[in-house]
Amino acid sequence: MKWPEFQKLIESRNFGGKISKDDLPTPALVVDLDIFEANLNKMASHLNAAGKGFRPHAKTHKCVEIAEACIRVGAVGTCTAKISEAEVFAASGLSGLLVTTPLVGSWRIERAVALALDKPDTIYCADHPANVDMLSEAAKAAGIELNVAIDLLVGGRTGIEPGKEALQLAQKIDTAANLRFAGIQAFAGPCAHTHGFEARKGASEAAMSLAVDTRILIERSGIGCRWLSGSSTGAYNIDSAIDGVTELQPGSFLFMDIDYAGIGGINNSVEFDDFGFSLSVITTVFSKPSKSVAIVDAGFKAFSTDRPFPPRLKTGDSKYNWAGDEHGRLDLNATDRSVELGDRLEFLAPHCDPTVNLYDSIYGVRGQQLEAVWKIAARGMTT
Ligand SMILES: Cc1ncc(COP(=O)(O)O)c(C=O)c1O
Repeated sequence: MKWPEFQKLIESRNFGGKISKDDLPTPALVVDLDIFEANLNKMASHLNAAGKGFRPHAKTHKCVEIAEACIRVGAVGTCTAKISEAEVFAASGLSGLLVTTPLVGSWRIERAVALALDKPDTIYCADHPANVDMLSEAAKAAGIELNVAIDLLVGGRTGIEPGKEALQLAQKIDTAANLRFAGIQAFAGPCAHTHGFEARKGASEAAMSLAVDTRILIERSGIGCRWLSGSSTGAYNIDSAIDGVTELQPGSFLFMDIDYAGIGGINNSVEFDDFGFSLSVITTVFSKPSKSVAIVDAGFKAFSTDRPFPPRLKTGDSKYNWAGDEHGRLDLNATDRSVELGDRLEFLAPHCDPTVNLYDSIYGVRGQQLEAVWKIAARGMTT
C-alpha cells in the first residue's frame, strides 16, 4: 500500500478490511485483539466467579478504549497511578476512578479536588497523617467531600504500617473535615513477581493477611471498612481466594510480557501462561551488515529497557541484542532461518507498561487485518 493511501485511510477511520499488519509503519506497537479479549474475559469471569470486584489498573495501557472495554465486561472502574492519568479517563466520561498513589503537592491536590467535583465517586489514597490534613483542608476550602482510603504497606513501596498505625490513620480520615473514609488499598507488588507458584502464594497470602487483619481491626473500632482493594496479574488466582479482599486491580494480564511469563505457573509450570501475549512490536530489518547479523529498527526507544533481558522474537530463535536508541541486532548464527533486508519481525516486550508508554497509539489487529487504532491518551501523564 502506498504511504499517502495508508495515511488517508487511518485519518478517515474507514480502514476496516483495507489495511493489513504488513502495511503498518514500524516500529509498530500492536495488540492482537483475539488474545487481548480472551485475557480480559478470562480475568473478568474468574473474578466474577470468585465474588470479587474488578478495577483493572490503567497504568498498563493508558488508553481510554481499553478502559472502556474493561467496563463492558464488568469492571467497577479504573485504577490510575497519577492524577493526570485520572483526568484523561474522567474527561472521556469514565467514573469509578481510583488513584493508587498518594497525592502530595498542591498541584496534585487541587486537581484531585477539581476532578472529584466532576466524578464524586473517585477514591484517593493517603499513607501519612500530614497528607490527610492536606486533603481535608483542600476539600473543606472547595466545599466538597473526598473519598480517601489508606494506602497500606504490604511489601510494596508506599503505605502506612498495617495494624495500630493504620487504624490511627483510618480514625484520622474518618474524623477529618470533608473526608469520607473509603477503606484500604493494599498493593503487594513484589509478591506478584515471586517466581514459582507456591512461593508466590505464600508471599501474597502473608502480605494480604496483614491487610485483612487491619480491615478487621478498623471494623472492630467502629469504623466501617467495607472495601479492600489490591493485587495484580501474578497473584490474581491467589488473592481472589482470600476472604476479606473485596476487589482486585490487575493490569499486565491484558498484554503480558516476557518478565511476567517467567514467574512460573500453577503446578510448577515454568511459564506463567494463564494469559496470552497480546502485545508485540513489529519491526523491519533495515540493515544486513553481514550474513549472520540483521539490524532491526527498534532499540531503546521502542522497548522498555528496565529488565535484565532484551526483547524476544515472538516466533523464532534468533537472539536480539540492544544496539542503540533506534537499533536492535539480531544474531543469526543460532538459526538456519533466512532473514533478508525488509523482512518484518515481531517481538515480545520485556515489560509491557513502560513499552506502551513509548508509543502514541496502539494498532489493534485481528489475524492479519487492522481493526482499530487506539490513542495512548494518558501517555506522558506523569504528574
Ligand atoms: C498499585 C498497583 N496496583 C495494581 C498494579 C497492577 O499490577 P500488574 O500489572 O502486575 O497486574 C500495579 C502495577 O504496578 C500497581 O502499582
